[in-house]
Amino acid sequence: MEVPFFSTLRQHQAISEKLEVAFAGFLQKGIFILGDDVSLFEAAFARFHQMPYCTSVANGMDAIFIALKSLNIGKGDEVLVPSHTCFATWLSVSRTGATPVPVEVNPFDFTMDVSRLEAAGTSRTKAIVPVHLYGHPCAMPTMMAIAKKRNWSVVEDNAQSHGATCHQKLTGSWGDLSATSFYPTKNLGAWGDGGAILSRSDSDYQFHQAFRNYGSVQKDIHLMQGVNSRLDELQAAILQIKLPYLSQWNNRRVANANLYHQQLKGVGDLILPSLGNENFHPVFHLYVVQTAYRDHLKEFLGKQGIGTAIHYPTPIHLQAAYRDLGYAEGSLPIAERLSKTVLSLPVWPELEPREVESVCEAIRTFFDRHL
Ligand SMILES: Cc1ncc(COP(=O)(O)O)c(C=O)c1O
Repeated sequence: MEVPFFSTLRQHQAISEKLEVAFAGFLQKGIFILGDDVSLFEAAFARFHQMPYCTSVANGMDAIFIALKSLNIGKGDEVLVPSHTCFATWLSVSRTGATPVPVEVNPFDFTMDVSRLEAAGTSRTKAIVPVHLYGHPCAMPTMMAIAKKRNWSVVEDNAQSHGATCHQKLTGSWGDLSATSFYPTKNLGAWGDGGAILSRSDSDYQFHQAFRNYGSVQKDIHLMQGVNSRLDELQAAILQIKLPYLSQWNNRRVANANLYHQQLKGVGDLILPSLGNENFHPVFHLYVVQTAYRDHLKEFLGKQGIGTAIHYPTPIHLQAAYRDLGYAEGSLPIAERLSKTVLSLPVWPELEPREVESVCEAIRTFFDRHL
């Protein structure tokens, strides 16, 4: 049975009537940038997280960058980031002029290992960017306690964990600020690029609102040298329609993860991702297994029409773009091992149990033949 790695087809069929009403409204109103839909979505997204303020922006990388800018982070500063994450996490730090300083992740839930945080800090450290990777919430109570003690700001990168909770509190609502992406594959995905910053203080919010729009909230008055990073009205309208479904879609992802867990436990050399516990509720943006046979397994599944992906095949510290940071191979062994062993299986909400079962069946066949 063919199983695509990701598809929005079934999701959009399920909400097509609402989408059509929104599109028809667009034909009438003809407002495309910074209109009511942007404001309404910002209010809804803030309310969902019980955070006072939300500013939507053009993408997740800009969201992290603008959040860091509002904390006045720049040249000469250091920001702690996970060793294993999306390239954009590090890049948004570098774009401020600050230096990303990697902290190894915990290989069971792929989040920053809080026991390594303090040792990674220096007198130049200004902030931590914890990433709730693959849908797994970071250990936020410990992270926040360390940050408070060391006087570091916390900017959560919640691009992959819309709706996850840590100690019953949503990811994205722990830090001083949080940033997210609405890239189409995300748990809450737009039909193009999009992102948002959640904030607590009016002054941060005012900064974000201006910075994303050439430094301006009032026509022709520019308070700072900002950027053009706006979510468009069409994306905001789609996200408004989708937000009320997020919890139900996340529950489906979790059900798929549970089924994988049941069916793949003890198979081959697979290391399965954590399912969380009463204090950590992941939302499985990705279901990521680890195996020494990763490349062969990927090829085997691909030949049967089963889509998989690798998040991420090259450790960031070994990318040409970060050669100047001077990390050699072997300097971050956990990130390096993960880059060779991780494989993301299809886990999107509308997958049917029989489809997950057929992926598991194919994986069992692979290991029966290879081990
Ligand atoms: C963890 C993480 N951070 C940041 C980003 C950047 O988001 P965007 O692609 O919207 O710029 C992404 C996703 O793509 C991501 O997965």
